[in-house]
Amino acid sequence: EKGPYQHFMQKEIFEQPTVVAQTLRSYLRPLERQVALPQIDFDISAVNRITIVACGTSYYAAMVAKYWFESFARVPVDIDFASEFRYRDPILPAGGLALFISQSGETADTLAALRHCKAAGQTIAVVVNVPTSTMAREADLLLPTHAGPEIGVASTKAFTCQLAVLAALAAHFAVKKGRMSAAEEAEIVAHLMEAPASLNLALEHDDEIKAMAPLIAPARDVLYLGRGPDFPLALEGALKLKEISYIHAEGYAAGEMKHGPIALIDEAVPVIVIAPSGPHFEKTVSNMQEVRARGGKIVLISDAEGLAEAGAGCLATIEMPRVHPLIAPLVYAVPVQLLAYHVACFKGTDVDQPRNLAKSVTVE
Ligand code: M6R
Repeated sequence: EKGPYQHFMQKEIFEQPTVVAQTLRSYLRPLERQVALPQIDFDISAVNRITIVACGTSYYAAMVAKYWFESFARVPVDIDFASEFRYRDPILPAGGLALFISQSGETADTLAALRHCKAAGQTIAVVVNVPTSTMAREADLLLPTHAGPEIGVASTKAFTCQLAVLAALAAHFAVKKGRMSAAEEAEIVAHLMEAPASLNLALEHDDEIKAMAPLIAPARDVLYLGRGPDFPLALEGALKLKEISYIHAEGYAAGEMKHGPIALIDEAVPVIVIAPSGPHFEKTVSNMQEVRARGGKIVLISDAEGLAEAGAGCLATIEMPRVHPLIAPLVYAVPVQLLAYHVACFKGTDVDQPRNLAKSVTVE
């Protein structure tokens, strides 16, 4: 079933161009350059607040989505870990929309939060990969990701497919709320349609990233930095590395470094900086220079332009294709997944079945 691949995780990383394209096909009308959502039985223009709840990697997709919903549609978004959500007595607006993101559709904390919101009269939307799951059955609005079965415990292709659905949904909200013109919608659709090809280009760096594994594997701690919609990618990179290679890793908002974690920096702590060209680049790079000034060893992930500007003096660089900031979180997921994967392989851990973890967490 793994075909030419050594692990399911590796196979699933490499499936991303195909499954993201497959997912986008059901959310976009390429010829008309429009987003196309399934039948929605509520008035989107009346939604004034969205609550998004998820766990783990799906929660990081929610973080990116918050950014998109707020910047495109100007709808305030409240996000939370499912395990925290119910216990803080959340304020749920009358007629509000609650959105749940889950690969499995069975995660106990997320399901409990969904039922809590349902009982509180919220409209329930679910972005889910398993169409027969409990969450899919209990949703008012089902938004499937078409990633196909994800076997590796570390979530990879489900994440990029979640992002594809959420970007289309955020654009749809923006259109319905009168915040996005037809021309802007056409532009968003065009950028999303570029994602599969850009994912393919990102995957071409596999060998190069594999060659970096021996540089990272001996580390006791690794830091990941990102900013804006790429900050969740830093968290995702750190989670991937922790769960399959057992190296302590932390993701930080690049600007938060100087408020504490910079104290950790020395030559023994690799710092992975996620900095696509775009509105956040300069600021992220100046945070990177603060790390470098303290002897930190940097792996910079950026595009050719970004690397030309800031790549000198790094321990290593990974060149991504130049992409629109909208699709950067999808494309930059690939190098952080591959880095975690190759470090774990180098260390010889059980990549698909890491210790202490289950694919679907069905206890609260
Ligand atoms: O099936 P779900 O998306 O609800 O699962 C949520 C988390 O348990 C999951 O993303 C977990 O964090 C992964 N092992 C991360 O790679």
